[in-house]
Amino acid sequence: MKTHSYSIPAQEKNASLLGNVLHEATGLLEHAGCTAARFEAEYLMQALLGINRAALFLDPERRLNPEETASYQAMLARRLQQEPLQYIIGRVEFWSRDFQVTPDVLIPRQETEFVLERILSLVRRQGFDCRHILDMGTGSGVIADVLAAELDASVVAVDSSAAALRVAVANINRHQLQDRVTFICSDLFAELGRQQQFDLIVSNPPYVAELEKNDLHPEVSEYEPAQALFAGSDGLECYRRLIPESVDYLRPGGWLCLEIGAGQGLVIRKMLHESGFGEVAVHSDYADRPRLALGKKEC
Ligand SMILES: C[S@@+](CC[C@H](N)C(=O)[O-])C[C@H]1O[C@@H](n2cnc3c(N)ncnc32)[C@H](O)[C@@H]1O
Repeated sequence: MKTHSYSIPAQEKNASLLGNVLHEATGLLEHAGCTAARFEAEYLMQALLGINRAALFLDPERRLNPEETASYQAMLARRLQQEPLQYIIGRVEFWSRDFQVTPDVLIPRQETEFVLERILSLVRRQGFDCRHILDMGTGSGVIADVLAAELDASVVAVDSSAAALRVAVANINRHQLQDRVTFICSDLFAELGRQQQFDLIVSNPPYVAELEKNDLHPEVSEYEPAQALFAGSDGLECYRRLIPESVDYLRPGGWLCLEIGAGQGLVIRKMLHESGFGEVAVHSDYADRPRLALGKKEC
C-alpha cells in the first residue's frame, strides 16, 4: 500500500451520508494499493460507530455528524499512512477474545494462536500438572491471558517494556484474570527471584534479524515496537540468553516452549540440546513452517 494524504470533501452535498463516505474511502484505499479496501473502509466505520457490519448496510442514508466525519477522516488518514488497522481501532481479536493493543505492543499473530493450541494439547494429552507458568515477553498479555484462562493456572507475565506491561495489565483486568496473573518489568530473568520454579515457561521473544529490517512491510517496520521485533543481527540474540537461563527457573520435568521464526528450527533445536533439554521437538504450522520449539528439563 502506498502512503497517501487525504481529506473528505465535507462541504460536498451528501458527502456525510454513510454510503457515500464508505464509497469514497474505498476508492482512496484502493488507489493507495490496499487489497481489501472495502473491507477496511467498513471495518473502520464499524469501530467508529460501534455497530456491526449488518447495521452498516441497513442504513446507508444515515448522515454522519461533523464529529463522526472528522473522526473517520482522521482514522482513514492514518490508514493511508500504512498504520495497521489494529492500532487505529485499538483492538484485536485473538483466541476469540477481545484485546486492547497500542503501538507499545506487538499486534498478536495467528502463529501465536497455533503455538498456544499445540502447548495446550501437549499439556492436556500428557495430563501435565501445570499450575505455575511464566510468559516471558508478554507484550499485550495474550499468552498469559489464554493460559491463565484455559489452564486455570497462575501466570507470571514479564516484559522489559513498562509501556507494554500497562497494556497487558489492562487486558488481564478486562478479562477478570487479575487474581491469576502477576506482572514483572524485567530484562529476561534479571528481576525474578531464583526461588521461582515454573512448570512451564512460554515465550514469543523478538526473533527478527536486524539485517532483515528492510524486507519487512512498512506496516510492521514503521509501526510495531522494535523491541518486540528485533533480536540482534541474526535474530537469535534473545534465545541465546533465554534458553540457558530458563533452566534455573524450571522445575525438573518442566517444559520450555518457544515460538520461533520459520527458518530457525535447526539452530533452536541445537541450542536446546546444548542447554541440556530433553525430548526436544520442533512443530510446524499448517503451512509447514517450523513455529514452536519445545524442550523438557530432565528430572
Ligand atoms: C514478539 S513480542 C511478543 C508479545 C506477545 N507475547 C505476543 O505473543 O503477541 C516480544 C515481547 O518481548 C519483550 N522483550 C523484548 N526483549 C525483552 C527482554 N530482554 N526481556 C523481557 N522482555 C523482552 C518485548 O517488549 C515484547 O513485548
